[in-house]
Amino acid sequence: MERIDKNSLAVGGTIAAVGGALTFAIYKYISRPFLEEDVPKEMDAFFVVDPKPRGRISEVKTTIERVPVPVPQKGQLLIKVHAAPVNPSDFGPFYAIESKSAQQVGLEGSGIVVGSGGGVVGYRGKKVAFVNRSAGSWAEYTVCDARSCFALPNNIDVADGCSYVVNPFTVYAFIEIAKKEKTPIINGAAASALGKMLVRVAARENVEVINIVRREEQVKVLMDIGARYVLNSSAGDFEHQLKLLINDLNCTIAFDPIAGEMTGLLVRCMPPNSTVYVYGGLEGRAVSGIDPIDLIYRGKKVLGFYMGSWIKTCGLRTLLRIINKVKHSLTGDVKTDYRDTNLKNVFEEVMKMNQGELAATGNKLRIRF
Ligand SMILES: NC(=O)c1ccc[n+]([C@@H]2O[C@H](COP(=O)([O-])OP(=O)(O)OC[C@H]3O[C@@H](n4cnc5c(N)ncnc54)[C@H](OP(=O)(O)O)[C@@H]3O)[C@@H](O)[C@H]2O)c1
Repeated sequence: MERIDKNSLAVGGTIAAVGGALTFAIYKYISRPFLEEDVPKEMDAFFVVDPKPRGRISEVKTTIERVPVPVPQKGQLLIKVHAAPVNPSDFGPFYAIESKSAQQVGLEGSGIVVGSGGGVVGYRGKKVAFVNRSAGSWAEYTVCDARSCFALPNNIDVADGCSYVVNPFTVYAFIEIAKKEKTPIINGAAASALGKMLVRVAARENVEVINIVRREEQVKVLMDIGARYVLNSSAGDFEHQLKLLINDLNCTIAFDPIAGEMTGLLVRCMPPNSTVYVYGGLEGRAVSGIDPIDLIYRGKKVLGFYMGSWIKTCGLRTLLRIINKVKHSLTGDVKTDYRDTNLKNVFEEVMKMNQGELAATGNKLRIRF
């Protein structure tokens, strides 16, 4: 009896060892590096060659260079980029005057996986959205950590998934913060692509929103998508109206993408122990006009918000919930409407917006490749 048991154990151990070795061999095989045959040696990429201080974007020099297609390292994917949105945060390299070398541009995009440096399974030929802080998405190809790539749902055109990450994840992060604090929120620059997503998602998630825009046309844009409260910051009684609404709704959190004097105004209007999250610098000016008394005695706070940092601290359950919600609202609540351009014309289009020839609202640029 004992002998039989020993034999069975030996046989069982051998089977387990062979099974483990086989699994390992299969994994090694399917996670090996690959490069599709039609990937060229060189590609077009957008570079900033002569950045200028903020406010002098018209003097910035850019170029499109022929450069080698990047080589993915272990854990990285090579993506043939199909589309990249133009986000305000992409303009960092335009103002990076301390940088001595030409800088690539572009934080996010979408495309098809055409290569891998190995150690990654299941991405070959897949449609993905990606965020990429190092290589730049304003290029025909990019390399990206597989961990920063998200498989796009089958029903989505690959180019329509290019804003999958930055704005939608930020919107859902704001909703998480509002729900935790059980408060209505202020949505600054509410006619932006992100602002409109926030209006739609907040309505579905039962979070009340006070929207701020800077032009009368934008009031209608927001009303048309179901916003209940919209204030125009250009109106003479704006500050008074904002205070009344904040009071009525008992709002204690503001999300401010504008900065400059807007941050000071928000702090002034908010009740004690409230928080203003500054998450953008659309005004191009330093935060100003904050009464120290508000910070010292009224417990008001001004905090920076960066989605990339928040996501690392929100916990796995919250992250999975957000990924699931984004996936299911990509063609609805967090859909972005674009004005398409290409690599050659993108800087000209950006300049039109900068010089007021083209409004940013309703003209979110997308580079198609
Ligand atoms: N911190 C983070 O983690 C994070 C993540 C995502 C996005 N963001 C920030 O969110 C903001 C919105 O991004 P987006 O992609 O949605 O932008 P977008 O679609 O390109 O729109 C920009 C909007 O801002 C308005 N605007 C520009 N300058 C303004 C000013 N000085 N005062 C008031 N409104 C102004 C424009 O209105 P007009 O038509 O009147 O010009 C337009 O509606 C950006 O600041 C971006 O950097 C931050």
